[in-house]
Amino acid sequence: MSVRTNRMATPRPFLKWVGGKGQLLPKLIERVEAAGEFGRYHEPFVGGGALFFELQRTNRLPRARSYLSDNNDRLIETYQGVQSGVERIIKLLERHKARHSEDYFYEIRSKVPRDPLARAARIIFLNKTCYNGLYRENRKGQFNAPFGRYKNPAICDADNLRAVAVALTHAKLECRHFFEVSKHAKVGDLVYFDPPYHPVSKTASFTSYDKSGFGEDSQILLAKVFEELTDRGVKAILSNSMTGFVQQLYRDRRFKID
Ligand SMILES: C[S@@+](CC[C@H](N)C(=O)[O-])C[C@H]1O[C@@H](n2cnc3c(N)ncnc32)[C@H](O)[C@@H]1O
Repeated sequence: MSVRTNRMATPRPFLKWVGGKGQLLPKLIERVEAAGEFGRYHEPFVGGGALFFELQRTNRLPRARSYLSDNNDRLIETYQGVQSGVERIIKLLERHKARHSEDYFYEIRSKVPRDPLARAARIIFLNKTCYNGLYRENRKGQFNAPFGRYKNPAICDADNLRAVAVALTHAKLECRHFFEVSKHAKVGDLVYFDPPYHPVSKTASFTSYDKSGFGEDSQILLAKVFEELTDRGVKAILSNSMTGFVQQLYRDRRFKID
């Protein structure tokens, strides 16, 4: 009997991320299908990259380069680490796994290594072992989520990390503000925007992803970028909360709103 392992079939998000779109994937895939063929793929709010990995996993991405970006520099550095040094990251994670305890978690949380691959492994380790498994920084940009009491956290999923590294082979990863997508997206490309949601109520704020907030000014700028891109023939999909403010921003009849 031969056992076939298909690495391309497995890449899945390797970080749990606030606002991750795992549960919305079937709906998002429907929109991607409706957009028809496209050139290159852009995700300017990549976060955990749920849609990117699903498109890779199901062979829906063209061979052309994908552009993945986010304004969280630690996040992008972690992706770049997996892209360029996955085997070393796996070794470092195995070491973290062997020493995992509450004291060890706080020791690792308290210091940022100088080596970029060690920093990437540190973020993956903290993401898998912190409370709620989410990335959270204080105002000084320091990771500040407390220890999570998991029995057996998946600190090192080597198969998935290797599949992620393969999936990222043709991706360009950059830390940048979303509006820069205008410089790179060409006619026929597809852009998926997944910004921090506009809060549905004054108390429900989902916008504190990192040290920079995403207020109404950012939402207005985003709507302008969306309009500019679609005006010049770039295909674009965007998710947001269905507040009155957001509906006003996208009231143009050309846009299909669900
Ligand atoms: C809703 S999350 C994206 C979740 C992602 N789709 C997933 O599946 O995990 C929004 C992301 O936008 C990023 N972000 C916030 N403000 C930004 C900005 N001005 N430019 C680029 N990215 C930004 C955050 O760091 C966060 O990762």
